[in-house]
Amino acid sequence: MIEPFRERFGSAEGLRVFRAPGRTNLIGEHTDYNMGFVLPVALDLATYVAAAPSRDGKLRIYSEHRAEAMEWDIDAVAALTPQHHWSDYPLGVAHELIAAGFALHPANLMIRSTVPEGSGLSSSAALEVSSALAFLNGRTLEPLELAKLCQRAERNFVGMPCGIMDQYISVFGREHSAVEIDCRSLGHRLVSLPAEITFVAVNTMVKHALAGSAYKDRVQECAAAVKGVQTQFPEAQSLRDVTPEQFEQVAPTLHELIARRGRHVVTETARVGRFVDASSRGDLSGMGALMVQSHRSLQHDYEVSCAELDFLVDAALKLEGVFGSRMTGGGFGGCTVTMLRPDAVAAFSRDIAQAYQQQFAVIPAIYPCKPSDGAAEVKNFETIPAAQ
Ligand code: GLA
Repeated sequence: MIEPFRERFGSAEGLRVFRAPGRTNLIGEHTDYNMGFVLPVALDLATYVAAAPSRDGKLRIYSEHRAEAMEWDIDAVAALTPQHHWSDYPLGVAHELIAAGFALHPANLMIRSTVPEGSGLSSSAALEVSSALAFLNGRTLEPLELAKLCQRAERNFVGMPCGIMDQYISVFGREHSAVEIDCRSLGHRLVSLPAEITFVAVNTMVKHALAGSAYKDRVQECAAAVKGVQTQFPEAQSLRDVTPEQFEQVAPTLHELIARRGRHVVTETARVGRFVDASSRGDLSGMGALMVQSHRSLQHDYEVSCAELDFLVDAALKLEGVFGSRMTGGGFGGCTVTMLRPDAVAAFSRDIAQAYQQQFAVIPAIYPCKPSDGAAEVKNFETIPAAQ
């Protein structure tokens, strides 16, 4: 990244590089903004931001992938408004840093990413967190504050009322581990997964236009479900606070659609704990069954799946060595995550690609989900991947 940086900006003096990973979520979907549990892993797919001071009072950001350069006077940045453009992510972060009392210094930034965009592997959070580290350029911000600041950037500037999962795992990811996050306390514990299994993500290569507006609808529908629950359980602050049994007592009093939305969140939150328990017992078929239940709940009750995701899940479940499969991330396209035996990965990848191509005339990209470390400065430049 150093040479292309020097070519573009004339100098690489004082250059530092920061990395933040994407993620797949193993289970616990659409539970984070309901204060529940999630179980993501940080991937070795990541966004890299190279940054060096600029001498002319400008902030410049170049995206290699878009082959597009943006430039502003540093003093103008605080007054910029969202443009529905990729630069909204780093600019939103810049705004939150300023709001948190950090001076923004003139700098040149170059972005390289191996997280496929729009794939549901959280390229946005990877860009936010790596940009935040680049703007900070060595100034310290507590990891949890970093995750929360990047979430605020997405909510306040980008305009997506997201939960904390993506930014949190991008900061707190750990090699060889999944991370069980309590989205209320914002604490986490590392979960080591059985050695006999591995996970792969399969990309539908589609992102339906509905995704953003449907996400906002779901956030509101969950708020409506909480209101309904409070008529019988006034102490409940969020769907996290009710058991599936309590929820079923209330469900008949709710609008049918709101009942299904709430049922998904309540059962999904319970499934995270059950999945972690099954994992610690080495109960592989139990883990797989919970993944499939999660998918069916997202498909029928929460209605955030789509034909491509359902096809990939159903096709995966017919293949040798597979324990379970489900959509991962926000939905309406993006990826599935499948749990399988490591020795089955090659045949699985071949067969699922063939089946998907036959059905949709598109070749799906397939990524191994190798749990990796969270965001940090890159000390060894040899580890930076080549331009994509
Ligand atoms: C998106 C959001 C997350 C989370 C997931 C669904 O990735 O950014 O906060 O809500 O959808 O689990």
